[in-house]
Amino acid sequence: MSKNSIESTLHENRIFNPPAPSEVGASEWLISSLDQYQEMYDRSIADPESFWSGVAEDFHWFKKWDSVLEWNAPEAKWFNGGKTNVCYNCVDRQVDNGYGDEPAIIWEGEPVDDSGAPLDQRTLTYKDLQTEVTKLANVLKSKGIKKGDIVTIYMGMVPELAIAMLACARIGAPHSVIFGGFSAQAIADRVGDANSKMIITCDGSWRRGKVVPLKNNVDEAIQLMKDNGNQPVEHVLCFGRCHNDIKWGELDRCWNEEMEKASDECPCEELDSEDMLFLLYTSGSTGKPKGIVHTNAGYMIYTALTAKYTFNLIPNDQGGQNQVYWCTADCGWITGHSYIVYGILPNRVPSLMFEGGPDYPTAARFWQIVERHKVTQFYTAPTAIRAFMKWGDEHPESCDLNSLQVLGTVGEPINPEAWMWYRNKIGRGICPIVDTYWQTETGGQIITPLPGATPTKPGSCTLPFFGIDAIVCDEAGNEAGVNQGGLMAIRKPWPSMLRGVYGDRQRFIETYWSTVAKDGEPYYAAGDNTRRDEMGNFWIMGRTDDVINVSGHRLGTMEVESALVAHESVVEAAVVGMPHEIKGTGIAAFVTPAPGFDGGDELIQTLRAHVAEEIGAIAKPDMIRFTAALPKTRSGKIMRRLLRSIAAGDTEITQDITTLEDLSVVAKLASSDEE
Ligand code: WT7
Repeated sequence: MSKNSIESTLHENRIFNPPAPSEVGASEWLISSLDQYQEMYDRSIADPESFWSGVAEDFHWFKKWDSVLEWNAPEAKWFNGGKTNVCYNCVDRQVDNGYGDEPAIIWEGEPVDDSGAPLDQRTLTYKDLQTEVTKLANVLKSKGIKKGDIVTIYMGMVPELAIAMLACARIGAPHSVIFGGFSAQAIADRVGDANSKMIITCDGSWRRGKVVPLKNNVDEAIQLMKDNGNQPVEHVLCFGRCHNDIKWGELDRCWNEEMEKASDECPCEELDSEDMLFLLYTSGSTGKPKGIVHTNAGYMIYTALTAKYTFNLIPNDQGGQNQVYWCTADCGWITGHSYIVYGILPNRVPSLMFEGGPDYPTAARFWQIVERHKVTQFYTAPTAIRAFMKWGDEHPESCDLNSLQVLGTVGEPINPEAWMWYRNKIGRGICPIVDTYWQTETGGQIITPLPGATPTKPGSCTLPFFGIDAIVCDEAGNEAGVNQGGLMAIRKPWPSMLRGVYGDRQRFIETYWSTVAKDGEPYYAAGDNTRRDEMGNFWIMGRTDDVINVSGHRLGTMEVESALVAHESVVEAAVVGMPHEIKGTGIAAFVTPAPGFDGGDELIQTLRAHVAEEIGAIAKPDMIRFTAALPKTRSGKIMRRLLRSIAAGDTEITQDITTLEDLSVVAKLASSDEE
């Protein structure tokens, strides 16, 4: 065992009990003991319908539901017959109840001055948000967008992105947000799959002092769609963010001009609980990214309840003492959907939005924001925490972080060293850490500590949230013993579960509902390996499929392989994950070059740029190795486990790639289950 792994085992065995609320400066813990958690959890599992209808009572309904749950595996209908509107519950309800002047979104953008102080900063109250959202909803309607039409949103992290999402929700037009780091090709794939009539974008967004040319990428995507005869887009609505010079084409409309003309009267559409709220594309082990479908009522209720309890969100008139919640994710991912916008606004605690990079213009940028806005809840990814560790303690030490009460992490397993650093250097050695495990498909956090109730261990996401009947099991649904590895599965439906893969029912069933079943009843299979320790805590041990998690961003290895083989210089490619100090998982590509192409540094650079062009910079391989052939089993399957161990530097043949073709070496290293 290496020194590091011994240290990490020591950390993993430490137990941190929740502090008293006053120790972190909170007025109370909403769930304040393990017993209270357990009592509520047991109730939520024994009688989910009464538990969730109790929660739903706190929201606004145009018409109450006829039934809480109709479950015909894998089809779930929650609050069927009910009519509600997510935008109303996020925005209008707060205004109607007299809270219109309270801050809803606090935004900091680039550019910044040399000290990191923002030159661009805005606060939108619920009333401001209502005005902007209603106007934009009218703009969308004036372009012929109506209930059921899918609107693509490709923007930077400006409040207008949240406004666009909420405007869509208001009129029942499902949105499909595409992360601003994706390429033109990736946009074209997603817009084509969703058959989206409208794209909302920005002229550009700021990132580390540079403009990301979002509108240009959209133009290019539209050209790509035209070229292959699938161009559904009728309007491109472009928000002027950074005076970037753009071309105006015949589909283009100017957000700023349209908004000036728009009326701010637009009642919320009375939508069915099960109408689609949004589509969000995510990677799987095969094929193109799939559009995960989420619907209105269940998603709204589940994300709001998890946000409330996981982050201990308390509005001012209930004793919250000016809480400010900040999630550093981008709205292009599910974390931004659920825990910047939809789960936070109903809780009436301001949500901070941030445009830019964590180390621009200084590595203290995040901590300066925490200090400036007196952030109380902070939610980020392990990859960011590892980067901060590397940049040095002097950066957080230069700022006043005493306002922090709860620290969250999400996206990938957090290594115990990073967990300890987070707690000690950011959380004053006292703030509870909530390591939240969930997925695009689960809509909201499903395994997570509650800060005032759950004893935590560094590296464990601990216990299931209310209503989540999660188990570790084998394919027959038999539960694993203590500390025995198995599949992460969920036996019962929950309100924010995915309702499908857009346009591909077969894929929905195959991916999630065909791995684990007991007595003929399928369980939801999350695609992760996991175990539970003697306290019942979950420990996530990695994916069961060919999905990798790079800096908390989910990628299919096959997507990267397809991008590589699309290049003329590549005959065959195999992509696997490899350990990476900051990213958690890095991308390793093994490539067989085409005749006439020499595998050298120049080709490495060309291929990296090519992958960025095909997918986005996040998919660039960290390591490319050329080989005359890929190691395969007798049945012709690429030996991924072998490649993973080579990429990790675990095998003796690391230094000599020519031995990849030496079948005797390969046969010795390959384990039998690869065949
Ligand atoms: C996959 C889902 C959930 C929003 C961001 C990622 C991994 C996520 C954790 C965690 C260990 C985690 C899993 C999961 N994952 N959170 N706290 N501990 N692993 O959403 O892109 O849909 O990815 O991320 O492997 O299946 P996503």
